[in-house]
Amino acid sequence: MLARSSQFVACALLAVRTAFAIPTIEIKGSKFFTSDGDQFYIKGVAYQPGMLTNLNGLTNGDQCKIDAKLIGELGANVVRVYSVDPTLNHDACMNAFAENGIYVIVDMSTPTYSINRVNPKWTLDLRNAFAQVIDGFQGYDNVLGFFAGNEIINDQSTTSAAPFAKAVVADMKAYRDLMQYRKIPIGYSSADATVRLQVQDYFDCGNESIAVDFFGFNNYAWCGDSSMDESGYTTLYDDADGYDIPIFLSETGCSLNLTGGRPFTDQVAMLGREMNDRYSGNIIYEWSEEGNGYGLVSYTASAATGTPSIMGDYKRLQSQWATLSPTGIKASAYDPTLTRRDCPASTSSSWIVRKDASLPTLGTSGFTAPTGPRSTTSGGVLTGSLAGGDAVQTTGSQSGSAIPGNSNASSKTPVGAIAGGVLGGLVGLALILGAILYFLRRKREQRAAYAGVEQGGPNGAPPGKLAMNPDEEKDRQNGYYGPRYHEMSGNGTTQELDPARGHVAAMPAPEMASRGEGRPELAEEGQGHYPAASLQSDFHAVGTSRGAGSAPGAEPSPYVQAQRRTELDWLESEEARLRQRREVLMRQDGGGGS
Ligand SMILES: *[C@@H]1O[C@H](CO)[C@@H](O)[C@H](O)[C@H]1NC(C)=O
Ligand SMILES: *[C@@H]1O[C@H](CO)[C@@H](O)[C@H](O)[C@H]1NC(C)=O
Ligand SMILES: *[C@@H]1O[C@H](CO)[C@@H](O)[C@H](O)[C@H]1NC(C)=O
Repeated sequence: MLARSSQFVACALLAVRTAFAIPTIEIKGSKFFTSDGDQFYIKGVAYQPGMLTNLNGLTNGDQCKIDAKLIGELGANVVRVYSVDPTLNHDACMNAFAENGIYVIVDMSTPTYSINRVNPKWTLDLRNAFAQVIDGFQGYDNVLGFFAGNEIINDQSTTSAAPFAKAVVADMKAYRDLMQYRKIPIGYSSADATVRLQVQDYFDCGNESIAVDFFGFNNYAWCGDSSMDESGYTTLYDDADGYDIPIFLSETGCSLNLTGGRPFTDQVAMLGREMNDRYSGNIIYEWSEEGNGYGLVSYTASAATGTPSIMGDYKRLQSQWATLSPTGIKASAYDPTLTRRDCPASTSSSWIVRKDASLPTLGTSGFTAPTGPRSTTSGGVLTGSLAGGDAVQTTGSQSGSAIPGNSNASSKTPVGAIAGGVLGGLVGLALILGAILYFLRRKREQRAAYAGVEQGGPNGAPPGKLAMNPDEEKDRQNGYYGPRYHEMSGNGTTQELDPARGHVAAMPAPEMASRGEGRPELAEEGQGHYPAASLQSDFHAVGTSRGAGSAPGAEPSPYVQAQRRTELDWLESEEARLRQRREVLMRQDGGGGS
């Protein structure tokens, strides 16, 4: 661990030494400014080439050099990266973007570590993983901000996930400040769902320690040569009236495979005088063509490497942006009096979170603040070391985690390192065995939860709660969102989704029945953070219902859909693997019954 730490420190120092100088982005009122005092408008592109397989963004330095140059020539000044592995090195990529005047907004969540909208939890594992992303990126001046979540709340039933998503914001701001990092803005990227205005108010309300620093939402309403009124942008503009923090479209770029490609006339509205006093720009979905008609460039290599070919949409976007360079207002001349929004009122029909519901924050316990003032060039303090004996932190959870395609990330967490030190001899062996059993049980629970999702919850309850602790429903009604560790339902029965037949079958869960007092909090750990909606089969063509006049939020963004496909594939293979493994274990166990 020591060796690894010093390696990290060396990397961090190197990064600082070689970093390309670029002013940082700061927030004043509802606007972004460079540290030089100029207003900053986002001309962004979503950047995760090969996103169906590449979840470790910004690690291929040579590729970033090629892409950053082309993205700079496009006229962009921001990229949004959806999934990173903070334990890998991002120096070359971050520098390549800085050299081309490009800022980066990093989504802290990954398919492995994110708030599950249907069965939301904010655990120490998640918190530590998010904190690692801040550790990994805080040293770069061209980090514009972090997204604490993407499209977690997308309808009435998923509003119960909102306090969890906001707890991420609160805890990560606390962590950032504890570590004395630069005050890198932390925001949220919303679906443009029917509840979007409540989401917007919800993330904005409350004091500085819990509210977002900026707000983005994904909107694909302007298709082709549309207009302010036809696209609904007039309403978007009205919605941002008097807003006190920067707001922008965190994904946009309706693509209905329009004849002649996308004209990007929306950019004239968004970056021009119609919108630019209330909006701070937008991020075009997306850089690389991933087979769904949203690309600006296409790579021939399946790994999305090499020099991509420029597509028509790149050229059209480039010529729009070339004419759009709003200067806005100088920070020195801007002295707004703005107030935060009120938290949305709860109504059973749309927003079920009580106005005064507390957040299930975890705080910064276990993290060690740097001693003495942090020098601006150090950047060497890494993930806070975790104190032992943390209530929910267990070695079992670490051993039990099986992270799809990203095993390095988990093994490099400090917790993993601690666990690694402990695991030796018989004790370790017992832990591993226990972990395997817990893991299997966890998967079973997940399937049960997913089964609930597929069916929808009873009596209009949020789907996915079916197999969960009924107390949770009570808590929610009481406005309580504190972490609760699910007890098993006690009747020794759980539900298993039989994928072959696609229905829910009740079956006994032998290893649970036999394990009596199983520590329920373990179920909170490790895996289980896959958006459960990934099992809902809404894999129809993206964009088709996004025309003007269609219900907003009718479907998730193309990124979320792509992510779901990847997860679904992974879950299917994992299910097969687990079934085999369970059969082996049960045979060895003589059936595993009580
Ligand atoms: C901010 O609000 C939260 C939740 O209401 C509260 O716990 C916290 O003490 C407040 N912080 C400050 C600095 O007022
Ligand atoms: C656009 O075309 C691609 C490739 O033909 C297709 O896969 C995709 O579904 C289409 N997208 C839309 C929004 O119609
Ligand atoms: C894990 O680490 C090894 C060695 O450091 C590296 O070769 C491999 O690509 C990494 N895998 C992932 C998934 O990051």
